[in-house]
Amino acid sequence: MLKGRHLIGPRDFSVDELEGLFTLAGRMEEKPRDWMDVAKGRLLASLFFEPSTRTRLSFEAAMLRLGGSVIGFAEPGSSSTTKGESLADTIRTVSAYADVIAMRNPKEGSALLASRFSTVPVVNGGDGGHHHPTQTLTDLLAIRRLKGRTDGLRVGFCGDLKFGRTVHSLAQGLARYPGNSFVLVSPPELRVPDFITKEIFEKEGIEYLETEDFEKVLPELDVLYMTRVQKERFFNEEDYLRLKDSFILDGARMRLAKADLAVLHPLPRVNEIAVEVDSDPRAAYFAQVKYGMYARMALFASILGAA
Ligand code: NCD
Repeated sequence: MLKGRHLIGPRDFSVDELEGLFTLAGRMEEKPRDWMDVAKGRLLASLFFEPSTRTRLSFEAAMLRLGGSVIGFAEPGSSSTTKGESLADTIRTVSAYADVIAMRNPKEGSALLASRFSTVPVVNGGDGGHHHPTQTLTDLLAIRRLKGRTDGLRVGFCGDLKFGRTVHSLAQGLARYPGNSFVLVSPPELRVPDFITKEIFEKEGIEYLETEDFEKVLPELDVLYMTRVQKERFFNEEDYLRLKDSFILDGARMRLAKADLAVLHPLPRVNEIAVEVDSDPRAAYFAQVKYGMYARMALFASILGAA
């Protein structure tokens, strides 16, 4: 039962609970009209202290499609945070108004903190460079649909694996399914942090390889998860400029890959995937977006006890 639960990290729900969510998301995708009233009279507070296009609109669209309503803000500048209010006080206040809170905040650990002060479920829409569990729901559902399974896959992550929270969450999410192995392609400065490689992969006996040789490993992959270099988390512009073009997926590189590769990207893309790749049938990043909305619909309906 997910009713009343928070979603802060990618392992807060059991694998069985995730299966239940994906089944529900599939039913919602098939017959959206059957679900258009289930959250009637319920209110989502959408608190975005950091920029977002997809995630915020996806949360809001999900709640509206379930018949619920949405309040909130898209810029921290318009909240009392600018007057010096603590996150704890903001959350105490908002949880008096809303039935569920979706929050994005630049500080790692902020979602966990919010969940401690909230009287309603809190959903983490990204806490700094740490985690982004609803993107993981999106990604797992996309992989399930595209590959027919979420186990026994060789998965490549490429780009900014240090600051990319979607990578941290998805790697932890996929590591729970048997037979998955990971190829981590990044410049040395942007490697996956130890809280994933040492604490998860090594402790759980999961095979992984760190490399800078993108072309060598491309032919092995079943799924390739590309990411943007996270400019906003760099301490200086020089490092960003030096690293931003480290790995670019283009048409020539796509020719090295398997015929049934699935290329995913949480978006926004900057230039790490050449536009010419968009017309390749293996490019799945725009299709991926729609799974996010159904995954979030299933999540809200479940934590509100409405499904
Ligand atoms: C990602 C994020 O915000 O972490 N985007 C998203 O939520 N779809 C990835 C990114 O910003 O690069």
